[in-house]
Amino acid sequence: MSVLSGKHILLGVTGGIAAYKAAFLVREFIKKGAEVKVVMTEAAKEFVTPLTLSTLSKNQVYSSFTNEEDDNAQWNNHVDLALWADLFVVAPATANTLSKMSNGTSDNLLLACYLSAKCPVYYAPAMDLDMYQHPSTIKSFEKLDSFGNIKIEAAYGELASGLIGKGRMAEPEAIAIFIENDILEKLPLKGKRILITAGPTYEAIDPVRFIGNHSSGKMGFAIAKAAASLGAQVTLISGPSHQKLDHNNVEVLRVTSAAEMYQASHRFFDSCDIAILSAAVADYRPVTVAAQKIKKKDGEMTIKLEKTLDILASLGKIKEHQFLVGFALETENELENAKIKIKKKNLDLIVLNSLNDKGAGFATDTNKVTLIDADNKAYPFSVKPKEDVAHDILEHIIKKRYV
Ligand code: CTP
Repeated sequence: MSVLSGKHILLGVTGGIAAYKAAFLVREFIKKGAEVKVVMTEAAKEFVTPLTLSTLSKNQVYSSFTNEEDDNAQWNNHVDLALWADLFVVAPATANTLSKMSNGTSDNLLLACYLSAKCPVYYAPAMDLDMYQHPSTIKSFEKLDSFGNIKIEAAYGELASGLIGKGRMAEPEAIAIFIENDILEKLPLKGKRILITAGPTYEAIDPVRFIGNHSSGKMGFAIAKAAASLGAQVTLISGPSHQKLDHNNVEVLRVTSAAEMYQASHRFFDSCDIAILSAAVADYRPVTVAAQKIKKKDGEMTIKLEKTLDILASLGKIKEHQFLVGFALETENELENAKIKIKKKNLDLIVLNSLNDKGAGFATDTNKVTLIDADNKAYPFSVKPKEDVAHDILEHIIKKRYV
């Protein structure tokens, strides 16, 4: 899956011959799963029609502050468009537009969007070779660089003038790949290894029966997916769960019992930077597992249980550089009990779920958590989809550890 998947891309098209390539660029972005809106200058319309770009992007194309053709002329709000964007890509970017961008000129909708955008801005210059090398163009590049805008270098080749040199807009495919790589390089968990446990464990009674719990694994899988999308290399150790996750950065190991989860967690803990143990591990297991199915008999039946090993506590004991995160599901004295667990298990952070909260818990799609640091500072969050909770947890860890 591309990092551009689900991203809102505002494509700014300016008036150069390379504008015809904007059609291919829209298709590249769409192929990678992005949603695209196009804002173009009047001059760009000479080279590619708004109809082409709106058909390919499946969105209205914007070029002026109002829809003049429309009787009920509507205001095209540049601020809304700019804030909608996760990325603003100006391609092709002419010398004229680059100069205006660097000087804060705002005499068309595209430039007003540029000035309003808070997202990363990429630009792919396209112009003749002498214009590309002119000191004033170089000044524009330098200024835009100082604003944090990212240049996608022009290519060398035959130019519209017939001259040969540097100034051709990078090819649409190369632009999309450049942006993907740039985003990947800057992901906050890039190069970090994360160990995550998820789901329940099943403790066998006999070949067909077990002791288990209702954990669905949704929370752990959501954390794994979010961590991977932030650039981490994830090892997800899951107990029996219907959840699936197919991501290049995630290795999913399926285990059944607490003992298997313990072994797998210890195998990967040494090399991880962060360990997040969200699994609902069984605290007890049958002392003996019957080799054959137990037949029913008259009267009562008793199963003798013994404690499973506490995986989280065992990792807390051997922890060195790792940031160790535990979960706590409490029904009373939530904060006090969670704080005791932080100390007892030597944690850096605990994620507290209270069963008293509506929308929190096992089989739901939402959760309500309070994050508590090792210094006992508590950060309560509202009820949210588990995907959003996963991001809250990871952002907190990133702030604590890497910012
Ligand atoms: N945990 C674990 N191994 C176990 C039991 C729990 O790794 N055998 C981890 C869970 O993954 C979770 C945290 O410990 O991160 C949850 O602890 P919890 O079950 O709430 O508390 P316990 O320490 O088991 O204490 P109690 O059941 O008495 O609340």
